[in-house]
Amino acid sequence: MSTVSRYLNKSGYVNADTERSVKAAIDKLDYAPSQVARGLAGKKTNTIALILPDISNLFFSDLARAVEDVAETYGYTVILGNSDDQREKEKRYIETLKKKYIDGFIFASQTFGKEDAEMLNKLGIPFVCLDRSPSAEFSSGVMSKNRDGAVMAVQHLLHVGCKKIAHIYGPQHLIPSKERLIGFEQSVREFGWYTPTLLEEGDFRIAGGRKATEQLMRRHPDIDGIFAGNDMMAIGALKALTQMGIKAGKEVALCGFDGIQTTEITTPELTTIAQPIYDMGAKITRLLIKKIEGDLREEKVYELDVELIARDSTLTFASGSSI
Ligand code: RIB
Repeated sequence: MSTVSRYLNKSGYVNADTERSVKAAIDKLDYAPSQVARGLAGKKTNTIALILPDISNLFFSDLARAVEDVAETYGYTVILGNSDDQREKEKRYIETLKKKYIDGFIFASQTFGKEDAEMLNKLGIPFVCLDRSPSAEFSSGVMSKNRDGAVMAVQHLLHVGCKKIAHIYGPQHLIPSKERLIGFEQSVREFGWYTPTLLEEGDFRIAGGRKATEQLMRRHPDIDGIFAGNDMMAIGALKALTQMGIKAGKEVALCGFDGIQTTEITTPELTTIAQPIYDMGAKITRLLIKKIEGDLREEKVYELDVELIARDSTLTFASGSSI
């Protein structure tokens, strides 16, 4: 017992052979320190894990920044993991990190499932869900009002004079994408010009936005407004329009979703529906720390308001000038 304890707590000498046999036994038994053992041993490490899809998307890097800033004010450090929305990868993170005395998890990726929730509850490890995870079912969570945001985007495009609006939607297994598509469709289906062929799927990446725009413009050359389901795809759409010799903004108005900083440096600058990214990260972190410290009174999902940031990619639209 003392040898195993020294190995687990890295507190004292264990020779190489013994270390190998202890590790083999732990792996074979899939042993994980129980919460009781942790409690008894006072094993609180003030460490939380943030599992999100892909830090290369600035939405998630802004989110991670907020989580880290707020965690630090409470004396917690953050371990970050990119799941790429892959179930197996996320499971590996959970398996590895739960053995390292993580105090709690924040999941922002869609693959977090019921069995993960049950396993963490059994181990008594607190967790919360953010943005993509179907949090209402498992725990407290924070999301944006995605559907309202899509309605705002369409209303703005109509307001600047668009007469035929397309939507590049994100992967439909993700709740935010589904909600934005619903918001778009409920806003346009009453118009005579609307047809489902004005919808094109993207992958939340720049290349996907570019490809979807090429398809849409070939299918409907008279499109004069595009609502992209996130800013990365809106940037791709901008590229496609430019390559096709179409004046983005003037001839085809373009609106994205997220509010990442890159939208400020494109030409024209991109109109977007800004999510309160920093507030989302801050709120979810406070919820988790309350849960870890036993102060969370109720499990609740918080939906935060989004905001239209109008810029030249819609404000310079000259209705009637479209091709
Ligand atoms: O840009 C990444 C997208 O994935 C964002 O819209 C965010 O809501 C996340 O779900």
